[in-house]
Amino acid sequence: MEYISAKLSDYEFDRISGLVYSLCGISLGSGKKELVTARLAKRLNELKLQSYDAYLKYLSGDESGYELLQLIDVITTNVTSFFREMHHFDYIRERILPEYRIKSEKIRVWSAGCSSGEEPYSMAVLLFEEIGNLMLRDVKILATDISTNILTKAKEGVYDKQLVNGVPKMLLNKYFDAFTDRDEYGRTLYNFKVKSDIRSVVRFARLNLMEDWPMKGPFKIIFCRNVMIYFDKKTQEKLVGKYHALLETGGHLFIGHSENLSSISHSFKYVQPGVYLKC
Ligand SMILES: C[S@@+](CC[C@H](N)C(=O)[O-])C[C@H]1O[C@@H](n2cnc3c(N)ncnc32)[C@H](O)[C@@H]1O
Repeated sequence: MEYISAKLSDYEFDRISGLVYSLCGISLGSGKKELVTARLAKRLNELKLQSYDAYLKYLSGDESGYELLQLIDVITTNVTSFFREMHHFDYIRERILPEYRIKSEKIRVWSAGCSSGEEPYSMAVLLFEEIGNLMLRDVKILATDISTNILTKAKEGVYDKQLVNGVPKMLLNKYFDAFTDRDEYGRTLYNFKVKSDIRSVVRFARLNLMEDWPMKGPFKIIFCRNVMIYFDKKTQEKLVGKYHALLETGGHLFIGHSENLSSISHSFKYVQPGVYLKC
C-alpha cells in the first residue's frame, strides 16, 4: 500500500482540535499534535488524501456525517481491560451487593464510556457470581460509548487470550466459551466469547456524553472511569452533576484512578479513591 506522509500545520491542528472539542468534549492540548498526526495518518492513507487540508475539506463536504464518526473513532482512546481497578469491584462485592443476595430489588448499572465492553461484562460477571442467576432478577446494565467501531466489538463480546488475562481462571471457564480461529496468515488464534447469559444483561448503545441523555435512571451504580480525564473542568462539572441526578439515593459513581472530583464543585460524598456516594 502506498504510504502518504502529510504534515499537520498548527492551523489544521487547531481546526481539528476545535472540531473534536465541540463534538465530543475532548480537549486536545497542543501537546497532542503528534498523537493526532499519527492517528489521522492512517485515515488519510485509507482515503488516499495527500494533505490534512484535503482531509478537512473532505470532512466538511461529507454530509452523511460518516467521516465525523471516523474522526471520533480515530481520536478516542479505548484502552480498557477486564476487572480494571479491581478495588472498585471488591468494593461493589463487599459494600453494595450483600443486601441484594436476599433482596430481589431491581439493579440498574450504567457504564458510561464502556469502550470494547470489558467494564460492563466484568460487572455482569460479578453480579452473576454474587447474586446468582440474573435471568431470574430484574438486572440491567446499560453500556454506552461515542465510538461506533468500538461498540461493534463490544457487542460481539469476543476477546483474544491476552485480553482475558485479568479474568480469574475460574470465572473464565464459567462465563466464557473458548474457541480457536485463524488469522490471515493461517496462524491459530485463541479466543474467548462472553457467554450469552452475561451478554443478555448488557445493552450497548451509542451515546455522546456531550449530547442529550435519553435515559431516566435511577441507577444504583454509574461507572465513568477514565473518560472525563479527556474533558475540561467545566465539562466534568456538568457531567458529574448529571450523574448525581441520575443516581438513586445511596447510589455510587465510580471514576478512574487518575481522576478525582476535588477541583470541581459537586454534591457527592467521597468514599475512597474513585468512589463517590450520593447521600
Ligand atoms: C479509556 S476508555 C475507558 C474505558 C473504561 N471505562 C475503562 O475505564 O476501562 C474511554 C472511552 O470513553 C469514550 N468517550 C470519549 N469521549 C466520549 C464522549 N464524548 N461520549 C461518550 N464516550 C466517550 C471513548 O470512546 C473510549 O471508549
